Amino acid sequence: MPRVSGLSYGGDYNPEQWPEEIWPQDVALMREAGVNLVTVAVFGWAWLEPAPGAYTFDRLDRIMDGLHEGGIRVCLATATASPPPWFSYAHPETLPVDADGRRLTYGSRQAICPSSPTYRRAALDLTEQLARRYADHPALAVWHVHNEYACHNPHCWCDTSAAAFRSWLRARYGDLDGLNAAWGTAFWSQTYTDWAQVQPPRATPTSSNPGQLLDFKRFSSDEHLANFVAERDVLHRLSPGVPVTTNLMTGSCVNLDYWAWGREMTGPDRLLSNDHYLLGEHPLEAPAQIAFAADLSRSLAGGPWLLMEHSTSAVNWQPRNLAKPAGQLVRDALAHVARGSEGALYFQWRASRAGSEKWHSAMLPHAGTDSKIWREVVALGGHLRALARIEGSRTEAEVAVLLDYGSVWAQEAPNQPSVDMVAFDEIRRWHSALWRAGITADLAAPDADLDRYRLVVAPALYAVPDAAVTNLTGYVAGGGTLVVGAYSGLVDEYDRVRPAPLPGAFADLLGIRVEEFFPLPAGTTVRLEAAAGTLRPEVADGTVGPDDGATGAVWTELLAAPDAEVRARYADGPVSGAPAVTRRDTAGGPAWYLGTRPDDPTLGRLLARIAAEAGVRPPVSVPPDVEAVRRRHADGRSYLFLFNHGDRPTEVDAGGVDLLTGLRHAGPTPVGAGGAVVLAEGPA
Ligand code: GAL
Repeated sequence: MPRVSGLSYGGDYNPEQWPEEIWPQDVALMREAGVNLVTVAVFGWAWLEPAPGAYTFDRLDRIMDGLHEGGIRVCLATATASPPPWFSYAHPETLPVDADGRRLTYGSRQAICPSSPTYRRAALDLTEQLARRYADHPALAVWHVHNEYACHNPHCWCDTSAAAFRSWLRARYGDLDGLNAAWGTAFWSQTYTDWAQVQPPRATPTSSNPGQLLDFKRFSSDEHLANFVAERDVLHRLSPGVPVTTNLMTGSCVNLDYWAWGREMTGPDRLLSNDHYLLGEHPLEAPAQIAFAADLSRSLAGGPWLLMEHSTSAVNWQPRNLAKPAGQLVRDALAHVARGSEGALYFQWRASRAGSEKWHSAMLPHAGTDSKIWREVVALGGHLRALARIEGSRTEAEVAVLLDYGSVWAQEAPNQPSVDMVAFDEIRRWHSALWRAGITADLAAPDADLDRYRLVVAPALYAVPDAAVTNLTGYVAGGGTLVVGAYSGLVDEYDRVRPAPLPGAFADLLGIRVEEFFPLPAGTTVRLEAAAGTLRPEVADGTVGPDDGATGAVWTELLAAPDAEVRARYADGPVSGAPAVTRRDTAGGPAWYLGTRPDDPTLGRLLARIAAEAGVRPPVSVPPDVEAVRRRHADGRSYLFLFNHGDRPTEVDAGGVDLLTGLRHAGPTPVGAGGAVVLAEGPA
């Protein structure tokens, strides 16, 4: 964690956008708000190196010193996310090229080819200069490498990238026979006979080879990661003992294999951090979006992590930028903390006067300190100080939701049976279904150690390597409960269809046979019929009949269940009468299959029921609209976070000292409308 005392609080600080007279005011206001950590120089390259090799650190010295005098620590960026115009102008080959061969230009940010050795060299030079100058500065708390890798430049199709892609493929396959076999190039007469012929998937008359697309995504993730590791290692060498991080975007970014990134961002002197912005107009409600991003960040970190950026209110980059009503600022920040963040930081400290982000909210808004945002910022600072003792405690989860980036990418290839089968959306939908049922879940890779989970769900696991199949089979054999979603287990990690019976990876484990896909027309649904109460317990009346109102959407298939019990069938639609939901009771645990995408309430109730059968218990039983999450120290001390997302006061059957108010509640504990409570549980 950053070298600050207690939880971290602050945001990106861009003093270069302001006259120096403002800087002391900034520090004074930061102190008033309880800020103890700010990220400096994220976009600092142009002022730190205004001409090639002419490093000018005098302003940064004064900024660092001023913050230090004010008792505020610094998350110091390596400033490599946005090369200045002089650099891109002098080195046009470092600019990214799109699939159509169009070279993008500078004038925004991240105009970088991730495989450019020229960029890498310049970035490492700047990193080294910063590390040498500030390694021993007393304000330095953590190093912040680059910014949101791959946010704007996930892939590059230039000649430099093409050469790097070929090297990457040679290392992966050894020879062209291996590559031709993996990509299935016998199809459409695309067999490669010389490495020089192999290209990134540039614009071509129709669909590129899916294996090539998939490997290009893997390669691109690795190229960005190599840039991070190179900067990180300079910092480790020159600034030992200071943690190094970069900010991920776990809630929305599927361009990087974050499991691979997590491995490079954890361990001694490393910190996993994340940025999260709410999508105002999105099928998932705001707290569910936060829960997913935070749960994934925690899972990648394997424990505590840090929220590096979020917004105090509206952002500026959505079609309609919805502001946060009073109270949401505090709830949102604490929701990340509940799920393992050791603090809450924002983009940004002071709202910018110019540039693309001038209408983005900030801790210090254009309206100044006589504002709703500022008052809530000050209140949150107080709350985070009051929560100092939770530092180091861990969020508890008994369920894992499987996420495999390679599988998500494979499913993104064109020419799938249905464009509506989007994997990442479905993974988030299942996670939200669990969230709505009050169940905290981790995310996990399919080859991870899953033994500690009572329940593992695989909402969308289209492409699955053999090792992961063995892992999941072993998990069920050991007594675990597994639920697999439709269109899973069909192809290997090269996107080649597995041999029959389908779904090749899971046919035997689930006791099913998929014969033919029957995707549904857009917007249509099919009815699901089950023993009353199976899918919708609230309609159970002791009789056996249709499970009123349960539907499936997007996907159906002609399914047989030779070795599984049929728990629901299609009551209409193209495969009326075929099994839709199955369960196989193995010698170990039960293995469920959902051959369609059940509507949200049905999915939620089914998962809640399966979780309950698996022995999963929510942290506490809560009334509707209340979210509960528990953090616990290794010595057993625990904290129950309660959020009331509704507009009426309510109470929760739990007791302890509310750390935000200092009040002791013997139980039940009142939670005001839109309020948050953090109970230190147990005796005083
Ligand atoms: C992030 C980025 C910040 C800022 C913010 C606005 O993606 O790291 O620099 O642009 O978005 O929401």
